[in-house]
Amino acid sequence: MSTATAEYELAEPLMLQWLTALGVDVEFVRGEGNTLYFVGPDGTEVPVLDYAGGYGSLILGHNHPAIVDAARDFFDAGTPVLAQAARQPAASRVAAALNSVLHREFGVTEPYFAVFANSGAESVEVALKHAEFDRVLKVKALAEEITGHLEAAGAAVASGTAVLPETTVAALGLPAGSGFDAVAAEVGGRLAASAARPSLFLALERGFHGKLVGSIQITHNPAFRTPFATMAPQARFVPLDRLDVLDEVIAAERATVPDVVVEGGAVAVVQREFPVFSAFVLEVIQGEGGIRVVDRAAAERIRAACDAVDCPIVVDEIQSGMGRTGAFFAGSLIGLVPDYVTLAKSLGGGVAKSAVTLVRGGRYRPEFELLHSSTFAKDAFSSALALRTVELLEADGGAVYRRAAELGDELIALFTSLREDFPDVVKDVRGKGLMLGLEFHDQTGSAAPSIAQAALTDTFGYAVAGYLFRVHRIRTFPTASATTTLRFEPSVLLTATEIARLDVALRALAAVLRAQDEHAFTAG
Ligand code: F0G
Repeated sequence: MSTATAEYELAEPLMLQWLTALGVDVEFVRGEGNTLYFVGPDGTEVPVLDYAGGYGSLILGHNHPAIVDAARDFFDAGTPVLAQAARQPAASRVAAALNSVLHREFGVTEPYFAVFANSGAESVEVALKHAEFDRVLKVKALAEEITGHLEAAGAAVASGTAVLPETTVAALGLPAGSGFDAVAAEVGGRLAASAARPSLFLALERGFHGKLVGSIQITHNPAFRTPFATMAPQARFVPLDRLDVLDEVIAAERATVPDVVVEGGAVAVVQREFPVFSAFVLEVIQGEGGIRVVDRAAAERIRAACDAVDCPIVVDEIQSGMGRTGAFFAGSLIGLVPDYVTLAKSLGGGVAKSAVTLVRGGRYRPEFELLHSSTFAKDAFSSALALRTVELLEADGGAVYRRAAELGDELIALFTSLREDFPDVVKDVRGKGLMLGLEFHDQTGSAAPSIAQAALTDTFGYAVAGYLFRVHRIRTFPTASATTTLRFEPSVLLTATEIARLDVALRALAAVLRAQDEHAFTAG
């Protein structure tokens, strides 16, 4: 066994087997723009047109020259990568640059504070932890207030300046004749019981927010989520097309706790809203869930429901953000002003790993900075590349955003025309800008065994990806949660020739599926 083989077999052998079965188990040795190259059997480079785009981390394509130059400049200057507990000017400048984009696109002026992280999932966990920390501090403040009211009311009853009416005793469900000590114990007990409830997150069905211990519980796919359900608090999921369920969930879960006031010489009970909801987490365009677009009406409805119970909204722009949809923040196109916004993927310019969580000033708890940190987060290298990336995206008055929107329109026109010509094959076209999905009809009835088999085993999109790669040298994938939808997330450098190549390949694919042509589908 060669050393290389041994390494591969230890690093996710099952995954490799599966890539081999699809015929996509190549090693890419070079990447440039939307093209990846592997070395073919004759020793020459074989180009592959990459529509997977690092699953959305390559808005500027592979190894964009300006990003590579920034990396070279960084090392030429001998800049240290890891010097924690010192000023991090590049990270500070990224935070400032993101604020100015956010202010412009959303028309707000409030500062958003930045907490840096290493991956998309970690930036989501930062948001979850911060939101929960904020909720816990709100609970603490409420408890202190109620305790103060109990002490004041108790003193008033003891000194005879207030009475404890039977209606108050009855309102708390206590036996008639109970004294103030029983009232205080009941109020305190109910507060403690509410405070002991586990935190509760709200999220959308089909949502994807990462696979760490906390974030996997707000990621909807049960196959990913349920094996780890006992490890972290649970979310309540709401279908995007049935947002009335959100109102029902909030009505069912919201809670009050009793407080006491002294009014007109008598102790009375008043109900106080208890902060139950840690946060509502959503993507503006669901990516891994199969490209589902949240529209303005849905955003308004979610915002109104959350505001009514002071539940912050975490907008996960890890995939939709960084210019892909025609604006830096996809949420700005539907007026969804975030309490928290997460960015990762393209933030490192397709070269570094970087992620950040922005927290709206009004909700920010500076103490959190002492509670969440990581050795690698906010490092000088990824921050320098993130800064260069934001500069490139913001250059020329937003030329990149306009280009992403134009290219998206061209691709949508291509997919729509394909659907018109092959309505029996193509079911739906979804998305915005360079975040698009093409859904296929169910193929379980295909006369071609490999097509039917893939459809039956929920791997149809992967089989299609294998065909496109082997026969047309085009790379794209479905997702594990939406296996009949292919995702297209090319870079903004996409050319007319590259679009034409996709057109040819998809038309050939549609013809093969229509003809139920086993031989053609398994070729290559
Ligand atoms: N949030 C969103 C919206 C994502 O799309 C992803 C990853 C994450 C969070 C997690 O980020 O992988 O850096 O930890 N999405 C990939 C996908 C896996 O297939 O769309 P990560």
